[in-house]
Amino acid sequence: MCGIVGYTGPREAGPILIEGLKRLEYRGYDSAGIALVDDSGRMFVEKRAGKLANLQTAIADRTPHAAIGLAHTRWATHGRPNDLNAHPHQDCTGEITVIHNGIIENFRELRDGLEERGHTLTSETDTEAIAHLIEEAYQGDIAEATRAALRLIEGAYALAVMHRGESDRLVGARQNVPLVVGLADGETFLASDVAAILAHTDQVIFLEEGDVADLRPWGVTITDVAGRPIERAVTTITWTAAAAEKGGFDHFMLKEINEQPTALRQSIAGRVSRSDEIVVDELAGLADRLAGVRRIELVACGTAYYAALIGAAALQDWTGLPARATVGSEFRYSPPPLDPETLVIAVTQSGETADTIAPTRFAREKGCPVIAVTNTVGSAITRESDAVLFLQAGPEVAVAASKTFVTQVTTLVILAAAIAKARGSLAADRETQLAVALRALPDAAQRTLELNADIATLARRYVNSRGFMFIGRGYGYPAALEGALKLKEVSYVHAEGYAAGELKHGPISLLDAECPLVAVATRSTVYDKVISNVMEGRARDARVIAVATEGDPQIARFADEVCWVPDTDEVLSPILAVIPLQLFAYHTAVARGTDVDQPRNLAKSVTVE
Ligand code: M6R
Repeated sequence: MCGIVGYTGPREAGPILIEGLKRLEYRGYDSAGIALVDDSGRMFVEKRAGKLANLQTAIADRTPHAAIGLAHTRWATHGRPNDLNAHPHQDCTGEITVIHNGIIENFRELRDGLEERGHTLTSETDTEAIAHLIEEAYQGDIAEATRAALRLIEGAYALAVMHRGESDRLVGARQNVPLVVGLADGETFLASDVAAILAHTDQVIFLEEGDVADLRPWGVTITDVAGRPIERAVTTITWTAAAAEKGGFDHFMLKEINEQPTALRQSIAGRVSRSDEIVVDELAGLADRLAGVRRIELVACGTAYYAALIGAAALQDWTGLPARATVGSEFRYSPPPLDPETLVIAVTQSGETADTIAPTRFAREKGCPVIAVTNTVGSAITRESDAVLFLQAGPEVAVAASKTFVTQVTTLVILAAAIAKARGSLAADRETQLAVALRALPDAAQRTLELNADIATLARRYVNSRGFMFIGRGYGYPAALEGALKLKEVSYVHAEGYAAGELKHGPISLLDAECPLVAVATRSTVYDKVISNVMEGRARDARVIAVATEGDPQIARFADEVCWVPDTDEVLSPILAVIPLQLFAYHTAVARGTDVDQPRNLAKSVTVE
């Protein structure tokens, strides 16, 4: 949603904060701001609507020398994205500065109360109220005043606070929104994500719900909101800052598409043995509860939801239990039967998506066993779950998910097989088939990437199309949905994803020579039916772009363009089928000149409902 970075130590804070913000822009980028307490004890605050570059221009040549500061990149929730609403926000005295990620739910009554008590609030944000509440509580100790303010606040927050008069001290607080403390020799950091501080330290503390961290250059003390001391473990981060860089590609999205073979290898590592067994150690503590499961509910949003559709189909097929996927924002408002016999699987790359976390928490309150599938160590979802399977895909920076989709599908397939095996419903030869197919997958993904140059040409050929219709059936259907989502989110071209059989029930009226049909027509049990649907489109003059399995002797007769992908097990076919669709979206976006890595109106991590 928003990105936070803070620093206190002996070095120049300004450049450290700006570099940190660059790593966090994926969290939001409609305004950015910085606050520094300079070496003479003066508070310097600058903020600008638009991207970080606007802020950089505004402070160029006038960034003061300072050894402490806070900086923020925003994705607007309360108040328009303009200079005034950009963070940091300050109290009436200008002594206290606050940046915030999240939503303060009772901010209207807090604001009304503050105004009645004589405070002047200058922005439309919920955040500004926090600065004034801290002002009211301040008696010379910024950590204590922050805790007092937090006791009045309802909602979700990651906060960073600083007081001009306590010029080596930062306060951070977390409630349902990520915040991490970085520890180095004689300096400390605060950040929404380790990527912002990894260039300086690999020693971090992931704050937990209700934690308040009091940072000084020499270390950190953590309490709860009541001021009771808390011990938190220090984690060593094993991925490098370079892993979060573009690595020579023009965009993070293209880099991450190309990282898919490696990401798949990492996801499979340790879960598929050389003797072709599927092993998920993370389920060890859940064995008894899994044995009693009678229903399976998957909950997720966006791309993760499409991966969950595949996981649900595999689970239902192999366990014989009813299994379905529901988008997180709908789940609680029409809940399925939830009890200790209902297994809930939450799928979320970031682990911070509010629409996924809220229903997961709701299900847990009903006694459901919960398994999380996420990419993010230390994320909120890991604390809402009885077991966690990490994607091990490495950091994904582009807003458009790519490597996390293929690793979500892979991890869910592995999980489905492991659950079915534990319940005795997966035949040994099926397990072997899957294990063999999984081990072949990274190399098959690598070969699929060789399509890149051809797809760049294809994308340019179709760049002026009015819109696109993506279709698929069975396991090809979620791939079609994901292909359509990728295209619309990065290129801003309208695209529909449909179950191929639904075409004739309405959307076929959109088809003509200006609206191509993109068909996921890989080898499958429903291949012939997909071809029938392709024929329906051709009969309406639609050009046909097909994703087909190498060696398919027929497809060229029905399609104008064919993207060939290697053969694999049907359940894994969407992983390979989606790669040309990701590349098509990427190259269409490049041809149209959009902001590929940070498309308009989006944020990587959506931490509000
Ligand atoms: O972090 P999550 O997997 O929970 O995120 C869910 C969606 O917000 C995310 O997949 C979104 O749809 C992406 N922009 C898709 O590219």
